[in-house]
Amino acid sequence: MRKIIIGNWKMNGDKRLIDEFAPLLSTSSYDCVMCPPFTLIDVARSNFPASVFVGAQDCSMFDNGAHTGEISCKQIFDVGGTHVIIGHNERRANNGDSDEVVAQKVKCAIRNKLIPIVCIGESKEEYDCGKTIEIVKKQISSLLQGEGIDVAKFFIAYEPIWAIGTGRTPTVSEVDEIHGHIYKFCGIYPVYGGSITYENHKDFLNLNSVTGLLIGGTSLNSKDFSKILSCLD
Ligand code: PGA
Repeated sequence: MRKIIIGNWKMNGDKRLIDEFAPLLSTSSYDCVMCPPFTLIDVARSNFPASVFVGAQDCSMFDNGAHTGEISCKQIFDVGGTHVIIGHNERRANNGDSDEVVAQKVKCAIRNKLIPIVCIGESKEEYDCGKTIEIVKKQISSLLQGEGIDVAKFFIAYEPIWAIGTGRTPTVSEVDEIHGHIYKFCGIYPVYGGSITYENHKDFLNLNSVTGLLIGGTSLNSKDFSKILSCLD
């Protein structure tokens, strides 16, 4: 199976950035999912090569209705989105996405034909106390409760909170160990995310326990990101 590279632009980018990336995404040794802000999904789908998947960074937990400002999974699908990041720590911390809300959103995405990329990970304090495995298992358990959640239908992204946008990462062997525990627990190897750069990406991507990478800051750098995709040295 090909590994997956997911770009998370967060609240960055505009139509010019789509134009800058479009010609650089045609050569890829991996499956690539680009997740621009909602406003750019349609234009990304029209301009990026057909081989590149386009995804959203969040979705509503409701199918439709009186939810001012929300975007539904059907609307994402309608403009060509295939994937959706759910439970990113920036949403858990700033927008009230609890484990329960995350589980509802995952169900809603699957019901509406999107592939969820569910983010989990521990805080620095939890890492320092050796609680990583306990925390990620709790986050996964709450996902798997209830009907309609089939692990074969989504990706898990292991993103230690303290590694997101900080320039710090766990060691390669720590990631390998945690991914091994996650595999034993739910049968899927996660994607790793947190301070991935062109320089360090291969260390993580080469692990058998890493299904792919979720890349934030570096996914805004067209040169580095396309070099990662095309395996250029
Ligand atoms: P980063 O972000 O690569 O900038 O650390 C990762 C993420 O937030 O998904």
